[in-house]
Amino acid sequence: MYTQGLDQKSDAVDPQRDDEVRLRQFQARIDQEEKIEAKDWMPDAYRKTLIRQISQHAHSEIVGMLPEGNWITRAPTLRRKAILLAKVQDEAGHGLYLYSAAETLGVSRDELIDQMLTGKAKYSSIFNYPTLTWADIGAIGWLVDGAAIMNQIPLCRCSYGPYARAMVRVCKEESFHQRQGYEIMLTLSRGSDEQIRMAQDALNRWWWPSLMMFGPGDADSKHSAQSMAWKIKRFSNDELRQKFVDVTVPQADYIGLKMPDPDLRKNDETGHYKYGEIDWEEFMQVLAGNGPCNRERLESRQHAHAEGQWVRDAATAYAEKQAARQAAA
Ligand SMILES: [Fe+2]
Ligand SMILES: [Fe+2]
Repeated sequence: MYTQGLDQKSDAVDPQRDDEVRLRQFQARIDQEEKIEAKDWMPDAYRKTLIRQISQHAHSEIVGMLPEGNWITRAPTLRRKAILLAKVQDEAGHGLYLYSAAETLGVSRDELIDQMLTGKAKYSSIFNYPTLTWADIGAIGWLVDGAAIMNQIPLCRCSYGPYARAMVRVCKEESFHQRQGYEIMLTLSRGSDEQIRMAQDALNRWWWPSLMMFGPGDADSKHSAQSMAWKIKRFSNDELRQKFVDVTVPQADYIGLKMPDPDLRKNDETGHYKYGEIDWEEFMQVLAGNGPCNRERLESRQHAHAEGQWVRDAATAYAEKQAARQAAA
């Protein structure tokens, strides 16, 4: 009691200093490659960044089902139909893992889905382009899933444990998606003149939007530096884009298709391909909601969500009955 005055001085709670200490400890754990788990302390900005990134990723998986789902009834053979069905189902699964990972950060799935359905949340712009022919299904698997793999493999080492672990399985499935797409392109490129033309046309339309999937160039990427320090991101947008170009150009050569880029050259000294200027104005327009299918995609999702209400109601009623039965027992 006598020393209370003294003690108060030394033990005084200083929230700002406390936060600084916790922040230092948090960063030290990240620097040592320790995983951050759901119940661990984390800075608000880290939590917000992850919620934004993981939910955008989840929405992309779900909206990404639409352009391909469009071709399930028109797949050219039973084998192709079975593969495409499986692939589209995988994407639904990816969406669900990712919503679950986002929920561990204290946000509800209803809230996230509402943000998507009201157009407040973003999803990958690539899914706002139309799928005009069967070859587009090949081009999407080869290029879009191929670009997704480049982005997602480093995410398996993301500092946030639940996200990193979800990515391990997602990446295994994405690599199957990439192969099935490339195999469609390979088959078409060995087919009739019309099939070759179809494959080339799909490549022409999907190549540039695929490069945009990595996001703005490093100089214009506003979240990058902090995400790198937090080890949410491991490589910059431009580094990932370059890796994708370097892997994909020889694949096009192998099947005899031509990249729609007159400036594409291999630099023999560095071994990297130099590519032409990306049309960022187009990217910004699609991002702003003015892409060829933005409206259609959102309407399809809203419609599907409304149509699924009875399924959610039935599942909830069933869960309540089970719980009541258990409580009675
Ligand atoms: Fe996916
Ligand atoms: Fe995929």
